[in-house]
Amino acid sequence: MFPRRPLAIITPTNESEIQATIHCSRKHGTQIKVRSGGHDYEGLSYISQTPFAVVDMRNLRTISIDTRGNTAWIQTGATLGEVYYTIAATSRTLAFPAGVCPTVGVGGHFSGGGYGMISRKHRIAVDNIIDAVIINADGQILNRDSMGEDLFWAIRGGGGTSFGIVVAFKVNLVTIPETVTVFNVSRTLEQNATQIVHRWQYISDKIDENLLLRLFISSVRSPAASNGNRTIQASFTSLYLGRVEDLLPIMEQKFPELGLVEQDCIEMSWIESTLFFAGFPNGSSLDVLLNRTQPNFAYFKGKSDYVREPIPEYGLQGIWNYLNEEDEYQTQLQFSPYGGALSTVSESETPFPHRSGNIFMIHYSVVWTTNSPRHINWIRRLYSYMATFVSKSPRAAYFNYRDLDIGRNNIEGNTSYKQASVWGFKYFEINFNRLVRVKTKVDPSNFFRNEQSIPPFSSN
Ligand code: FDA
Repeated sequence: MFPRRPLAIITPTNESEIQATIHCSRKHGTQIKVRSGGHDYEGLSYISQTPFAVVDMRNLRTISIDTRGNTAWIQTGATLGEVYYTIAATSRTLAFPAGVCPTVGVGGHFSGGGYGMISRKHRIAVDNIIDAVIINADGQILNRDSMGEDLFWAIRGGGGTSFGIVVAFKVNLVTIPETVTVFNVSRTLEQNATQIVHRWQYISDKIDENLLLRLFISSVRSPAASNGNRTIQASFTSLYLGRVEDLLPIMEQKFPELGLVEQDCIEMSWIESTLFFAGFPNGSSLDVLLNRTQPNFAYFKGKSDYVREPIPEYGLQGIWNYLNEEDEYQTQLQFSPYGGALSTVSESETPFPHRSGNIFMIHYSVVWTTNSPRHINWIRRLYSYMATFVSKSPRAAYFNYRDLDIGRNNIEGNTSYKQASVWGFKYFEINFNRLVRVKTKVDPSNFFRNEQSIPPFSSN
């Protein structure tokens, strides 16, 4: 829903047009919303309740790869699909650890975290950023040297939008084998899904870091039932950085309950695996990665949680009851495993704090087409039910799965540190205070602000 139309949509083709936009916005007291891929769950990159202009980065999307140093400069208007496509056009053994959906934008995704199918081996996007270009509230163009290490730290997980407009990130590319193995194996309740999911929680963060076993859970019509009965389906959607002959013994030893067999597995290149996980049919041309149009749902709500202790079987059965309340295929849970290389980074290395001790992240989602509060109520009730089973004090959430239910800034005027702490500690944990200090230093007048931007101390 669009409560207010933007006063202007600016699509800069160079940095000076961004500087001019900042200058005009300051002069007229207009808020700036920055949009890269436009995937923000709450639409914060293109809607606002106060007068605003949109800076849409779509024309700034050059990707320059240096194969000698295995690095890349990536402008923030690029999508993940464009990044993956360009890397693969250069080398079969280079890749970048970031999200699964090709239409997600670099600007929001890289500045807020960036988890994907090779993250247990190569960590997340922010861990691989080595330089950046940002334009600050005074219109100055800064790189890592000139912005200083505090600001450079803040935009690697604290969200770019609180601090300025990020024009480009420089990243280290990672090395991957020429052949990787993928599989997507589903089990229903009749095939012991509850027990298998329960067991998955004990191995998913500890298994070989080359293997990422992501789990998608939904309520579907039972394949075994002719009377329309529903069941829960758990799909293990997985990537192994290596060949099937090396994967099978690992699965046999650590997770025999799934019953993976060679016929379930497909060997392919990493770039082909990005198509597989994005849901494109086998044999699709790589060009589909360049399509910037995202599938459109009329309504969507997402939330997140972190799990530090396995959820008991009765807890999982309670979740299944919630999933069965909504229509089939309308809701989905994603369980994304952590551990591996993700645990080797300290929680304060970047603002993204979800490191050692987390078994997996839960992503809850519901989509619907006819306006009704029923579905939002449903996801809020499920979230409330989950409180017993997930992280506490704070109940952590993933910043890139934006959720205004966990707290927001005032629409007009300043927001106190105390008020912002409610959501700030959930996203950033111990790093929230440092983010506030950086914001106070680089944008004390709170020019760059939105419903969940970091407030400066001066606005208390
Ligand atoms: P958008 O343009 O909406 O920006 C998001 C936020 O960043 C806004 O606040 C915006 O102002 C700010 N921003 C954007 N560009 C900026 C810039 N250049 N400078 C400063 N601020 C800027 N996540 C994940 O980790 N793994 C995954 O696999 C997925 N998969 C996924 C699939 C789908 C379908 C969706 C909708 C989302 C995901 N995500 C995800 C979540 C995704 O990482 C998150 O929504 C990102 O913020 C999206 O970045 P965009 O640039 O597309 O969003």
